[in-house]
Amino acid sequence: MPHVEYRKILLGRGAEAVVYLEHWLGLVVVCKHRVEKRYRLTHIDREIRKHRTISEAKCMLYARKLIGNVPRVLDVDLSSFILRMEYIDGSSLRDVTARAVHCEELHNVLELYTRLGRYVAILHSGGLIHGDLSLTNILVKNGDIYLIDFGLSYRHSVGASDKADYKTIELCARDLNVLLRNVEANFARVQDLLMESFFRGYSEILGESTARRVLARIKKIRSLARYAPR
Ligand SMILES: Nc1ncnc2c1ncn2[C@@H]1O[C@H](COP(=O)(O)OP(=O)(O)O)[C@@H](O)[C@H]1O
Ligand SMILES: [Mg+2]
Repeated sequence: MPHVEYRKILLGRGAEAVVYLEHWLGLVVVCKHRVEKRYRLTHIDREIRKHRTISEAKCMLYARKLIGNVPRVLDVDLSSFILRMEYIDGSSLRDVTARAVHCEELHNVLELYTRLGRYVAILHSGGLIHGDLSLTNILVKNGDIYLIDFGLSYRHSVGASDKADYKTIELCARDLNVLLRNVEANFARVQDLLMESFFRGYSEILGESTARRVLARIKKIRSLARYAPR
């Protein structure tokens, strides 16, 4: 039987990884391969790629334990800096929102933002900061939300709660500010509706007072940013 070489389908090429679909043990999976950075010394480059691959896999496992809707980790190959995971065959929340805005049919998408708010709140209460909550790192499949790209995620020792300290609130606020800026940049006209729906879900889980503290901190961060723009 002739050897069949399946073509790899490129999904993304980011700053540090190439992400593609491939056939692996008879499954169609996502392969995230952290590629070499030639400007780094070889042994340091390998350490960094190894560390980030492990960290991403651990954060995915923890997030999956907390909310469920995170791709399964299938393989961590530290000799080639590869993370293989379940393929979520859906669309990004950015594309889903764009379609809804275009059709002026926001109802279902608002429900998705509320759901997203609940999921992110569960991560935050478990002390997990996603680190890159942009709309392309949030997938929609069968009317549900899936979180991907835990490459910048980390665990903070304290989870968000009504007893959370200033630092915890600050980390949660910065996490949400990434989302807010992304929503603003893509959907300025309906950003308030989208974010209100998000915060409805977020405060359902964390409670009004914690959610309000996070929101107040976001406002503070944004007002400071006006004086020291990045
Ligand atoms: N498990 C997955 N299922 C479906 N698509 C995925 C999955 N993981 C990544 N992708 C796609 O690949 C893109 C890049 O992957 P991502 O992990 O976000 O890498 P980067 O760190 O380069 O942004 C994503 O925006 C998404 O379109
Ligand atoms: Mg990404």
